[in-house]
Amino acid sequence: MEFKIHQVKSFEDIKTDALIVGVYQDQKLSLAAEAIDKASKNAISPLLKKEFKATLGSTLVLRHLKGVDAERIILIGLGKKDDYNAKAMLKAHESLAKLCNELSLEEAVNTLLLEKTADISLEKAVRLATRTLQNAQYSYTTTLGKEAQKTKEAPTLKKLTFILNDKHDKALDKAIAEGQAIARGMAVTRELGNLPSNIATPSYLGEQAKALAKEYKSLEVQVLEKKQIEALKMGSFLSVAAGSEEPPRFIVLHHKPKKDHSDKAPIVFVGKGVTFDTGGISLKPGASMDEMKWDMCGAATVLGLFKFIGEIELDREVVGLIPATENMPSGHATKPGDVVTSMSGQTIEILNTDAEGRLILCDALTYAERYEPAAVIDIATLTGACVIALGKVNSGLFANNDDLSAALQKAGKNACDPAWPMPLDEEYQQQLKSNFADMQNIGGRDAGAVTAACFLARFTEKYPWAHLDIAGTAWDKDGVTKGSTGRPLPLLAHYLLDNQ
Ligand code: BES
Ligand code: MN
Ligand code: ZN
Repeated sequence: MEFKIHQVKSFEDIKTDALIVGVYQDQKLSLAAEAIDKASKNAISPLLKKEFKATLGSTLVLRHLKGVDAERIILIGLGKKDDYNAKAMLKAHESLAKLCNELSLEEAVNTLLLEKTADISLEKAVRLATRTLQNAQYSYTTTLGKEAQKTKEAPTLKKLTFILNDKHDKALDKAIAEGQAIARGMAVTRELGNLPSNIATPSYLGEQAKALAKEYKSLEVQVLEKKQIEALKMGSFLSVAAGSEEPPRFIVLHHKPKKDHSDKAPIVFVGKGVTFDTGGISLKPGASMDEMKWDMCGAATVLGLFKFIGEIELDREVVGLIPATENMPSGHATKPGDVVTSMSGQTIEILNTDAEGRLILCDALTYAERYEPAAVIDIATLTGACVIALGKVNSGLFANNDDLSAALQKAGKNACDPAWPMPLDEEYQQQLKSNFADMQNIGGRDAGAVTAACFLARFTEKYPWAHLDIAGTAWDKDGVTKGSTGRPLPLLAHYLLDNQ
């Protein structure tokens, strides 16, 4: 999709299939709506008393208004004027994108960014609007039948012009490029998440990483196989892979920017890549088990992030680590009570084979030490308990460093992809004590998301570290929106843009 910027001129003279115009809930017209209302001899204002309440995200299409050159005026409800902020702006653009596709429009002119959003700059508003519109162009078709692939309505919008007060300048072009890159990253994340586990295997994830390295010169990729993982002594990771016929992979992505930044240590991202989580011998119940194909959404986020990094040629060294495996029951599978030795040398009593995410992450977190990183951030669909605690609104954010935690919270807020800080008090570590090993892999029912993070904290003492539990935010469970959300890629992309 192509994005353009034009400077404001008389709205009634704009020739387009659809002129997008905002209206506030309190019967207040936006600048553009006022101009169109005037030119059309009040085609809009009377509607606000009855037909169109302008609640946030509501829409109304008006065709062929007298005195107006645009084919259609699309009214978008912006909610209350005093409440209009970045989040409201994003929601308005989601509705707008949906409607444009429903109307099979190929082109539109959007005046919504003329409205001030109290909490963000114009550049950030352009970035957010672009990302939202581009992200709405993603639709999953890969495994539909041929007929369904043809009939599933493909997104139609090809060109969108933002009308702005300011002359279009480099900063705004950059904002558009960043917004598009975030959405392209999200498309990678969403597609990998949505693919079934018989396609998106650990080897498939490795191939996708290699394909990215072909696309972007700054990216080097290594895909380690079982023998190499054994040589690294990743006993904890391998204990999860033991039950599966699908061979595991350990994927290393390394983005080295053109300019030499040897003064800045790299940022490392670690993504949980359980391509299917049956629970292993501690088998999960059957209901909704299909959802466990999304248990590689941390990995998918890391791969999407490298798409974003390649697109914008990020000026900072970044490493991505993905332990990828299935978690299956079989005669070779790890059994409750088994003790394994992690790459760090610490031993782990596996009391529940369904707490496998932390078992694969801990070895990747030890591997991360070799980069002497400025920060390590892991992303994982780690616990059902996090879904109970925070639902699908906030990702759970744990960190051993206050500055890193604050930076990620800020990025999440700015990206409208929020994360909420959770505790890591030493006292919770008690729950992981074992009589048979240095630790056990579960901490009982209390504070399940916290004890999972506390487990990881034992492997991250050498660097600033944060953990995002995305079990509630990475996918939607229900109905027509069932599927991967692409979160928390926007949060992480904003974090990188702020920390180059
Ligand atoms: N992948 C799951 C976490 C999960 C569950 C994500 C439901 C999204 C929805 C993870 O591997 C898991 O099974 N965690 C267990 C841990 C428990 C055994 C301590 C859980 O949350 O039940
Ligand atoms: Mn599990
Ligand atoms: Zn899992």
